[in-house]
Amino acid sequence: MGKLNISRLFLVLILSYLSDRANGRVNFKALDAKLKQLKKPAVKTIQMKPSFDFKEEKSNTEKESSSKLLMSQTWQRSGSCPEGTIPIRRIRRKDLLRADSIDGFGRKPREIVSKSSTTNQKDSHFPFINNTNIILPPLINQSVAMLFTLGSNFIGAKGDINVWNPSLSSPHQEFTAAQIFVKNGPGDVFESLESGWTVFPNVYGDRRTRFFTHWTLDSYTSTGCFDLNCDGFVHTNPQIALGAAVEPVSTQLGEQYYITLGIYMDPTTSNWWLKYGDDTAIGYWPGTLFSFLNHSSTLVEWGGRIYNPNVKKPNHHTKAGMGSGQFASALYGKACFIRNIAIVDFSMALKYPDWVGTWADEFNCYSLYNDQESNGTSPVFYFGGPGRNPDCP
Ligand SMILES: *[C@@H]1O[C@H](CO)[C@@H](O)[C@H](O)[C@H]1NC(C)=O
Ligand SMILES: *[C@@H]1O[C@H](CO)[C@@H](O)[C@H](O)[C@H]1NC(C)=O
Ligand SMILES: *[C@@H]1O[C@H](CO)[C@@H](O)[C@H](O)[C@H]1NC(C)=O
Ligand SMILES: *[C@@H]1O[C@H](CO)[C@@H](O)[C@H](O)[C@H]1NC(C)=O
Repeated sequence: MGKLNISRLFLVLILSYLSDRANGRVNFKALDAKLKQLKKPAVKTIQMKPSFDFKEEKSNTEKESSSKLLMSQTWQRSGSCPEGTIPIRRIRRKDLLRADSIDGFGRKPREIVSKSSTTNQKDSHFPFINNTNIILPPLINQSVAMLFTLGSNFIGAKGDINVWNPSLSSPHQEFTAAQIFVKNGPGDVFESLESGWTVFPNVYGDRRTRFFTHWTLDSYTSTGCFDLNCDGFVHTNPQIALGAAVEPVSTQLGEQYYITLGIYMDPTTSNWWLKYGDDTAIGYWPGTLFSFLNHSSTLVEWGGRIYNPNVKKPNHHTKAGMGSGQFASALYGKACFIRNIAIVDFSMALKYPDWVGTWADEFNCYSLYNDQESNGTSPVFYFGGPGRNPDCP
């Protein structure tokens, strides 16, 4: 009897595996071609450095000293890279098999703006700019809690992002992220440069918190990817790997860890450099990739995002956690923060934006709070939430 059950289970597993593959129409030739393309030789990279620097007007917050900047990565315990080479996270066949399509591997799901629901204000909180309600259409399958600033000439953005490991509720195509976006582009089609941390099992194969970069030229429709999963980002740093686990993570009322990330355009080359920590250049997105970001960014966003088809639907909300999984009102030590938020405009100074707006799609599921403790300190942005709860069924 026991034997029968086991073999039946085995059969079911095989059948479901086969039918998954049949539904996904896996083309092994295409899969192997993609693997080959991803398997870059350990070539020497040209040790480039950004040729610019920005002065920061630093306004420290009191709690600064009680949290820790993360600079090391777990993989470094087992070695380091030879001079002139960079660490690359290896993509295996099973990683590609998790993707819905081989072309879509390692890219964020398409971001389609729901036009029909622009007038349905029921479940959306619209951003406030200078105390005026601005109507931004909600995103499909996503829920956000963001701080943003709009302008015509940003050439840099940074922030210290508190690191957590929120839980997800369904592994397939679900992600949670805390990040910075630097965007430009007309209407719904935007170019975007991004970095932060994410938990995204479909791309990384586990539920650890990962340091990531991402870019797109067309709102994730057909260009761009995470990390080094496609050509685009030029990685120059031998110490920091893209897609590496970020550990340790913060704990409730325990030690708080953060990563400092900055995305800055070199005004002479239009290359956008990613910096980690106070002054470590990771690599750059070549200015020649872009048609809008080759001049400046018009929209910078900081905060959290959830991707899951079960958002914005009554009675089936995902339990995916954003930030720490706690609401913004829990504040320091419990809720996820981004602080030392700054932009660079053509005045070349790093400073808090002249004005900011906030945007939360589902305040009862994921909330936000921009906390200014006193005059003279820059606000600390708190965001996040547990997803499904009595107020977010
Ligand atoms: C917000 O107000 C500030 C100060 O009055 C002004 O400089 C800025 O242009 C305003 N922004 C928008 C989008 O209206
Ligand atoms: C940016 O790219 C667009 C499209 O290729 C081009 O027309 C424009 O001149 C470029 N701008 C700069 C500042 O390079
Ligand atoms: C939203 O999720 C559903 C269910 O997975 C999927 O069929 C649909 O294509 C998604 N829409 C977008 C715009 O991602
Ligand atoms: C904050 O500073 C501004 C300008 O320095 C001042 O006008 C304002 O009264 C101060 N507010 C408080 C609450 O101290």
